[in-house]
Amino acid sequence: MIRVGALLSGRGSNFLALQRAAERGDLGEAKIVLVLSNVEDAPGLEKARSLGLDARAIPHRGLKRAKHDSLMVDALKSANVDWVCLAGYMRLLTPVFVEAFPQRVLNIHPSLLPAFPGLHAQEQAWTYGARISGCTVHLVDEGMDSGPIVAQAAVAIGDTKSPSEVSERILKKEHELYPQALARLLNEGWSVEGRRVVFNPS
Ligand code: GRF
Repeated sequence: MIRVGALLSGRGSNFLALQRAAERGDLGEAKIVLVLSNVEDAPGLEKARSLGLDARAIPHRGLKRAKHDSLMVDALKSANVDWVCLAGYMRLLTPVFVEAFPQRVLNIHPSLLPAFPGLHAQEQAWTYGARISGCTVHLVDEGMDSGPIVAQAAVAIGDTKSPSEVSERILKKEHELYPQALARLLNEGWSVEGRRVVFNPS
């Protein structure tokens, strides 16, 4: 069994998409064994608990970033987690975290990176007037939405009337792309060459 930890700070719809995929067997041997949040009342934690999952808050308030990360790492390591999926986890990871799970931390971002990194990517795309945006699953490094890209999906947004319409459209795609990308990483051979994630390298 491949043990996955999910980290969230909010509603947790991407975590739920991963959990449903795992329940359907779409992730092969992988199972979410631990859900962690830096936010005590994150709705995603409640969702996880209602599904019978081990879901805990490790609040970051008053802690240095590296200290908070080391507490998160301790909890993940105690649960023997192999892979970490960030699902709306609103914190940059420090080297303490990234080095504890080399090339085993994934994130989903609601734009076609490297366009519109950071907060409110959907609003950035709408305000910019982009006709196409989308979502990106990438390996996580210490930077902001900067790690090697695993998968992307495009979403047409030229006719949207508001940033929230953009978010809604992209979110649907996120829920498909994230489990697919994770399944691919788990089931296929791959390596990182420079910035490129190369599947089935010869
Ligand atoms: C998603 O748009 C995700 O791409 C971004 O944060 C949002 C989290 O939403 N990183 P949810 O908590 O998964 O519903």
